[in-house]
Amino acid sequence: MSSALPCLSLVSMSASEVLPSHYVRTTSVDEVRQNGAMVVHAGGLTLALFVDADRVYAVENRCPHMGFPLHRGTLKAGILTCHWHHARFELESGGTFDPWADDARVFPVEVREGDVWVDVTANGDLVEHHRRRLGDGLERNLRLVVAKAVIALDNAGLPPTDALTIGLEFGTRYRAGGWGRGLTTLACMVNLIPWLRRDDRRLALYQGLSEVALESAGTAPRFPIRPLPGDGRNPAAFKRWFRQFVEVRDAEGAERCIVSAIRAGMTPTQLADMLFAAATDHRYVTAGHLVDFTNKALESLDAAGWQHAARVLPSLAGEFAFGERMEEANAWRHPVDVVALVEEAGERLPGAVLSGQRRRLEGLEELLDAVLGDDPRTSVETLLRALEQGADPVEVAGAVAHTAALRIARFHTSNEFADWDTALHTFTFASAVEQGLRRAPSPELVRGVFDAAMSVYLDRFLNVPPARLPEPDGSEDPETLLEELPRCLDRQQQVNETGTLVAGYLAAGGDPDALLSAFGAALLREDRNFHTIQMVEASFRQWADTRDRVFLVAAARYLAAHAPTPRAQGQTFTIAERLHRGERLYEDPS
Ligand code: FES
Repeated sequence: MSSALPCLSLVSMSASEVLPSHYVRTTSVDEVRQNGAMVVHAGGLTLALFVDADRVYAVENRCPHMGFPLHRGTLKAGILTCHWHHARFELESGGTFDPWADDARVFPVEVREGDVWVDVTANGDLVEHHRRRLGDGLERNLRLVVAKAVIALDNAGLPPTDALTIGLEFGTRYRAGGWGRGLTTLACMVNLIPWLRRDDRRLALYQGLSEVALESAGTAPRFPIRPLPGDGRNPAAFKRWFRQFVEVRDAEGAERCIVSAIRAGMTPTQLADMLFAAATDHRYVTAGHLVDFTNKALESLDAAGWQHAARVLPSLAGEFAFGERMEEANAWRHPVDVVALVEEAGERLPGAVLSGQRRRLEGLEELLDAVLGDDPRTSVETLLRALEQGADPVEVAGAVAHTAALRIARFHTSNEFADWDTALHTFTFASAVEQGLRRAPSPELVRGVFDAAMSVYLDRFLNVPPARLPEPDGSEDPETLLEELPRCLDRQQQVNETGTLVAGYLAAGGDPDALLSAFGAALLREDRNFHTIQMVEASFRQWADTRDRVFLVAAARYLAAHAPTPRAQGQTFTIAERLHRGERLYEDPS
């Protein structure tokens, strides 16, 4: 935006002054005066010229809100009002009184011997302007403003981590509750970007940032706690203190521990270890969201840079302190006390895991059957035995994530609709534990594998009766199936059909990357909720690590159960794209 004055008094001009060459003659002052407002073309721009109180003004003739011609607006007392949605602009600076509209672009004017000359080069720092507009959109929860800023920043060549960093800064500062679903959605969206088509990447960012804005809207800001004075403490002390404070639900003590640990120079692995240990001191906290949120916060730092750790990680403290512990849930206590089973297993774990040489998991089928079976003791004992025999905890965790995905792949549509989320929680938790073990393996976090297995056990009713798993013969044309995917998701409850389609595509040798891109596009055109993005992101991640198609079948079925939606978010983004291309939204294209 120009910071120079867009006008000059008609009476102060000296005919002898020479203008710089970038000034362009447009028209005469008399013509502008006769017309009240006048449209001229100069330097590749379309400008609206106004005369007001003996001064000439030049404004880009395109309302920054949705592109309506500003020469058709009303000028009164120095304020130009657009005639589409009534955004108001101070004519001299272009500044708006309606933050949803953005400031109008104005250009310096010189009058020479009755002619109007305009400096059409005045642009200012557009990248900084769009960064600031992204902040405005987040603060005021304005989706269109967020969309326009994301598109402009992407077009300027900025990497997605730039917008991620702005979202992290905003979401951790302006939500008293700290890290939540909004930032988790943003982290998931950034994780999906490598699999997405070029045009879908900024749509993903827009959706993630919009969720951050929505979740922060109307809440009090968060006031961060300073680290302890001094330094030189060892990491073991912080880990012990943090777990102790979380145990007694002391969020402030826990937060001071985190921020002090960062200041003391604990490494990313040590910090992850401290967080995951406390996250698994109690059973399946907040239906698994605590471990998942923690994992996503760590992943967002991997992407944005660990220099943001002191802002991001302390924002998790509330989730740690106030999470719902399954020790207090009836289903985890009766008729079988599965909490006691996990606790007993936990006491045997330090000797069973992370000692000696790791080996490939043997007896995978037996382990899968035990976890999916009706006896939680057998499940726990089989897992313990695998670990005692030296199986890699990551591989064991992956096997449990497979069983959790199977619950969704076999989820029968005669279940209550809300139970999709029961199965989803188990899967995303199991996946987060597996990802956490890759980052910071520890006996404490391995307890999460047992939590996930117990949740798979408790979810067994969701597979009564079981939906049939697709058994494709690989004879179908993958391209035809890929084209059919979005059409399938245009119709409600095509759960089995979509799962079968995805399985058939992979069995026929279709390109997995093309499938994931199409899948991502299908997700992003929906007003997908928090759980759907969790489901798809975790499935993509597990697929990438294993090439096990059950993850994509499960995700396809889950998405199909939750599609189609009104697709209103996509409509807002489409408006922003059309505006960016310079289209005239106020005209009927037909
Ligand atoms: S207010 Fe001008 S286009 Fe909406």
